[in-house]
Amino acid sequence: MLRHFVFGLLSFVFLCAPAHAVEKYVAAADCYWPPMELTDSNKQPTGYSPDFLKALAKAVGIEIEVRNVAWDGIFGGVATGQYDIVSSSVTITEERKKQFDFSDPYFEVVQAVLLPAGKHINSLKDLKGMKVGGQIATTGIFVVRKADVGAELKEYDDVGLAIEDLLKGRIDAVICDDPVALYYVNKKADTAGKLNISFKTQEKEYYGFVVKKGRKDLLEKLNKGIRLLKESGEERKIAEKWLGN
Ligand code: ARG
Repeated sequence: MLRHFVFGLLSFVFLCAPAHAVEKYVAAADCYWPPMELTDSNKQPTGYSPDFLKALAKAVGIEIEVRNVAWDGIFGGVATGQYDIVSSSVTITEERKKQFDFSDPYFEVVQAVLLPAGKHINSLKDLKGMKVGGQIATTGIFVVRKADVGAELKEYDDVGLAIEDLLKGRIDAVICDDPVALYYVNKKADTAGKLNISFKTQEKEYYGFVVKKGRKDLLEKLNKGIRLLKESGEERKIAEKWLGN
């Protein structure tokens, strides 16, 4: 009896303390933002940011597991410690910086406005009187709201649903980050050719990884990784893979 107990205890200690203990972190991504975050045929997270994080983790000698988490509420989970990082194409904004810490910027975007193929407008002002869809609580929605041009906003749980409604004629336009717009226009089988990017906004946005306030150790690792991937050229390779040149 005691012998079994001691043996069990010993193997437990061995199994839990491998020779090369690597620090492990969990990142949350809303995988409905292609090609930045999406799922593969096995429903596993894939895309630009999972690849970027994988390379980053390798470069700084840590492990990062990416989990698919719904956008609505994704920030809450980092606050309560369910995961360490939000890696979900999150634009660094002053509002969000009040509540969370951000890594250095790792990707630049602008907002793109999608219309059905053949239809055109030139600026935010032209959205007046139009029904405009986007993902709930994203910067695209914020930009239209702030412009205050008299558009009617419709917020969706994910941008794919907004685009579906656009193609069914239930709304008039969709606003989202430009690489995502480009993906629906050119690459996604069931929407390619049916949409066009009518115009893009001027103001640049930058993605950062989100961590709970005060996690300096983790932020330093992320920032070091971002720098290393730039220097090594790996960032460029990942961009070529997911975004074309
Ligand atoms: N960049 C935009 C924002 O921060 C949209 C991000 C949405 N990301 C996603 N994976 N659904 O508000």
